[in-house]
Amino acid sequence: MDIKQAIQSRHSVRQYMNMSIKASSIDAINQKIEEINKKTGLKICFDVENPDAFTGILARYGHFNCVRNLIVMAGPEGRDKEIGYYGEELVIFAQQLGLNTCWVALTYNRKKVKCELAPEDKIYVVISVGIGANQGTQHKSKPLNEISNISDECPEWFKNGVECASLAPTAMNQQKFYFEYKDNGVVSKCGRGHLTELDLGIAEYHFDVGSEKYVFEERLNFNGRQI
Ligand SMILES: Cc1cc2nc3c(=O)[nH]c(=O)nc-3n(C[C@H](O)[C@H](O)[C@H](O)COP(=O)(O)O)c2cc1C
Repeated sequence: MDIKQAIQSRHSVRQYMNMSIKASSIDAINQKIEEINKKTGLKICFDVENPDAFTGILARYGHFNCVRNLIVMAGPEGRDKEIGYYGEELVIFAQQLGLNTCWVALTYNRKKVKCELAPEDKIYVVISVGIGANQGTQHKSKPLNEISNISDECPEWFKNGVECASLAPTAMNQQKFYFEYKDNGVVSKCGRGHLTELDLGIAEYHFDVGSEKYVFEERLNFNGRQI
């Protein structure tokens, strides 16, 4: 399955088979995490076989079942967009390995997460990973002209980027991101609210894959700002 097919078939999955992930898939995810951490200075880690992280009061509200593995999206303050961008790269990579995922901001047990962090690092969110008991369902999307200034005059690469961005997961499916075709290029922005900057990073990853231009990755300067 190529990256675009993985983006099409990915949906949040909250119920998993009570089975371990193959060792080769764990190694592949760990290797990818190492590459991202080296490049960005983020402190992402893969917490494998830790069912305790989805126990407790908050987790009971979350409709999650048999979560045994999680990618812990951690790093220094102010890096929300990179957390979104590279977390989604990992989500799509896991999908290509035949695994299922769900971004989780709230309904997990933070105290039970195993990840070595420096005092200046924080956990932003986690991503559950496993063999899905189902494949999830397609989310409802805003019309493309509410998330961009798409028109017949826009080039194909921009239209493809926006279409791919509309498939991006966002917290509570809020889709508060916007892509503007401007001066033969693209600019992005996000609305106000909780997790919108992180969501924008996720949508930018999708835009990069769809447009095949990778402009947003080029603009990340690994200090949490774009240049
Ligand atoms: C940053 C972020 C945080 C999320 N937090 C939660 C969560 O705490 N609990 C949950 O059940 N789903 C959570 N989700 C999943 C979203 O509800 C889901 O991505 C959205 O409804 C779109 O559906 P889809 O992922 O199937 O396309 C989160 C998604 C993102 C991107």
